[in-house]
Amino acid sequence: MKLLNGYTFDKPRLRCILSEPDRPDSRLLLLAEKVQNEELTDIRSDVREKVLQSSVEVVTYDLTLEYSYWPAEHILKRLLPEGCEVPTSFESVGHIAHVNLRDELLPFKNIIGQVLVDKNPSIRTIVNKVGTIENKYRVFQMEVIAGESDLETEVKQYKARFRLNYGEVYWNSRLEQEHKRLVDTFRPGQVVVDMMAGIGPFAVPAAQKGCSVYANDLNPKSYHYLTVNIKLNKVDNIVKASCMDARDFMRLLCNPGHSCSPRNDLEGDQDNAENLVERWKLPEGGLHFHHAILNLPATAVEFLDVFNGCFNQERWRDVPLPFIHCYTFAKAAETDADIISRAEAALGGALSKGCQVHLVRDVAPNKRMFCLSFQLPEAIAFGQGVRTAEAPTDADERLNNGESGHQDKKQKIAGAC
Ligand SMILES: C[S@@+](CC[C@H](N)C(=O)[O-])C[C@H]1O[C@@H](n2cnc3c(N)ncnc32)[C@H](O)[C@@H]1O
Repeated sequence: MKLLNGYTFDKPRLRCILSEPDRPDSRLLLLAEKVQNEELTDIRSDVREKVLQSSVEVVTYDLTLEYSYWPAEHILKRLLPEGCEVPTSFESVGHIAHVNLRDELLPFKNIIGQVLVDKNPSIRTIVNKVGTIENKYRVFQMEVIAGESDLETEVKQYKARFRLNYGEVYWNSRLEQEHKRLVDTFRPGQVVVDMMAGIGPFAVPAAQKGCSVYANDLNPKSYHYLTVNIKLNKVDNIVKASCMDARDFMRLLCNPGHSCSPRNDLEGDQDNAENLVERWKLPEGGLHFHHAILNLPATAVEFLDVFNGCFNQERWRDVPLPFIHCYTFAKAAETDADIISRAEAALGGALSKGCQVHLVRDVAPNKRMFCLSFQLPEAIAFGQGVRTAEAPTDADERLNNGESGHQDKKQKIAGAC
């Protein structure tokens, strides 16, 4: 081997020394494919001479490397027309791999899917994204292109497990870091309200760290998996779930007399509003809570109007108002101040100093996702005549460390959330 250094067979996961079944005392040393004849004319002459003078016998050996040997990228390169970009990366959700094939690759979608299933032992189903995610429940439109048509799966995020049907509910594994970041800001014993909770990636970890959680989603399928995940993670003693519109949910929590209609077309039981109030033991005058989350970035800002005048002043007299964490998309050219201005327009009043705008992730070249966190000002919470048609214009000053322009003097400044 030392002598033949540089000429021996060298391929990942394959040995170059083989035993011969009918010659137990001898071994085969495989040479590289570039050595193609028994005269060893492809080898440097001094090496060849030494080899031929030694006691080794040179023989021809056929080695077939089959489909099972080659990685997906190599196979797809050979199968797809020349010049096509080979799709080898995908996002996985449990046993499901999710690809986003370009139009030119659609005629080959099934064979691409099959190679990816064959070559990734943990993947059993391949789906391709179809169209954009514009529907109300933010569910991907997708098509199974290979493997089992089973979209029911389970994923893990930190200490929590989540069951979901990827074709029926929203799930994005890329938000794992953000779920953790926000939950890390909650303290055990605090009360957290998740207005668009999906299947529970904020609600379950918050409960696991000892928060008491009220979680809601309008999609009946999300509500179903939310309740499944609450039980799966054994936090059913501190998470309460419902299925209704986010505004109704917030109004019900703040004013248990509010008449609203939880959905009545669910698979399991869903209480009517009065039963919820009773079962959740909502106090007259409304629930005291520390945090509210609105993670529906496409339209969550529009929901902020619900906070205007929603709170009972008497009940919240000596209690700090909650922190609101509202997700939103913004164009690359938009500033933090633009985001704050939009929120203020929906809230109907100015925010106080101490707002935080956190960049969550780049979604597309001109689209980024942010989380705006702020403590609800009293003037807005108690609807003290602050609703204005126009957004305030000095939003820059509401950013952390800025000076407040329209600030209610009594407002406590938002410190660490
Ligand atoms: C972007 S997903 C976020 C889900 C979850 N918070 C997460 O981080 O994975 C938005 C969720 O809002 C729900 N939704 C849409 N419109 C709603 C509404 N009017 N009221 C309550 N939930 C709504 C959708 O069903 C979806 O589950």
